[in-house]
Amino acid sequence: MKTQVGIVGAGPAGLTLARLLELEGIDTVVLESRSREYCEKRLRAGLLEQRSGDLLRDAGVGGRMDAEGIVHHGLSLQFDGERHRVPLFDLTGRSVILYGQTEVVKDLIAARIDSGLPLQFECEVESVDAERGVVRHAGGELECDLVAGCDGFHGVSRPAIPASTLRTAEREYPFGWLGILAAVAPSMDELVYAHHERGFALLSLRSPTLSRYYLQVAHDEDIDEWTDDRIWEELAIRTVVDGWTLHEGPILEKGVTGMRSFVASPMQHGRLYLAGDAAHIVPPTGAKGLNLALADVRLLAEAIVHRHRTGSEELLQTYTERCLRRVWRAEHFSWWMTAMLHTRHDGDAFDLELQRSQLRYVTSSEAAAHSLAENYVGLEL
Ligand code: FAD
Ligand code: PHB
Repeated sequence: MKTQVGIVGAGPAGLTLARLLELEGIDTVVLESRSREYCEKRLRAGLLEQRSGDLLRDAGVGGRMDAEGIVHHGLSLQFDGERHRVPLFDLTGRSVILYGQTEVVKDLIAARIDSGLPLQFECEVESVDAERGVVRHAGGELECDLVAGCDGFHGVSRPAIPASTLRTAEREYPFGWLGILAAVAPSMDELVYAHHERGFALLSLRSPTLSRYYLQVAHDEDIDEWTDDRIWEELAIRTVVDGWTLHEGPILEKGVTGMRSFVASPMQHGRLYLAGDAAHIVPPTGAKGLNLALADVRLLAEAIVHRHRTGSEELLQTYTERCLRRVWRAEHFSWWMTAMLHTRHDGDAFDLELQRSQLRYVTSSEAAAHSLAENYVGLEL
């Protein structure tokens, strides 16, 4: 079997790339190891930068996002038992959209199926030959003019770049996030990022009836140690402010995610181009993972279309360089937010006072708040 662009992985990166290329009349085949149901249920990110929303809209898959997504113009940072609002929109003219990654993926899969284009679930790619553009899977081989490795951090695409060429930069953190999805109206109007001596907590949401809350825990925390009652109690302690109540409800899902920063470079080799988590990971504190994946495929689609129309390889050749400018900005921002908000249980009074000083600064200086806000809503890089 042959195609112009073989896409490994039907996460947000792979599906969005397939859609952008479809609109330009470029043939693609998407191969995904998991089932459709699994892909549509995998609970992950929930915050889209305005520019990510624009990309999905321009790709003709923004209808439900516009109807059901919730636009936020600010967020709160909490420390010392008080909340301080950062007015994202007033500072930057941009807002963010709360719309689950599960919903983005459902919309993209539905569009692909509507178009009748190839998307094979339960088709695990075993290896990629980056030089020849051959993708091997259980059912045979796919010969591609170009291959897009959109198969996430644990995929097979990144290892197809020779070890002698690939450079990686990495940071692991001693903490993870315990995340819950609860069937209860969110107790707040905007996201709350709370610094607390017992550990960080984040109050987020998915809809007017679904709350998404997180607690900082150990990176290898055993979820079985956390009963629903213990989770609610800990959330209430870490997010307490006078005159406000955290409303509890049935917990529908819970899980622990470790945190890591990781960047692979180059993001291309031979006919292979990596996008999204296959190339880089950020800790979730800056809400950048999904947005970076979408930003990569926007550049990759442009470069592929440019070559298709003009024969010029120029944009493909500079793909890594153009992606990594934005990726490293997001890496720094995510690391910085993580360091400012999480409690290091091996830390000392000096670490703690630096964090509190930084939190006071970003919530009292317009210049500092502006810097946080422009990174959070997404810089044009
Ligand atoms: P993925 O979504 O990982 O998609 C890759 C796809 O490739 C998957 O469908 C996978 O099944 C498929 N695949 C893998 N190997 C193969 C193979 N060999 N053959 C075929 N298919 C393959 N970001 C935030 O901003 N906020 C969050 O709260 C947040 N929470 C997260 C929680 C978890 C558990 C994880 C893992 C990530 C989270 N992220 C979060 C990050 C965000 O979800 C990712 O950045 C985003 O999913 C990246 O999209 P992607 O398409 O690059 O990769
Ligand atoms: C989420 O809603 O899942 C979410 C929001 C903001 C973050 C991380 C996760 O920084």
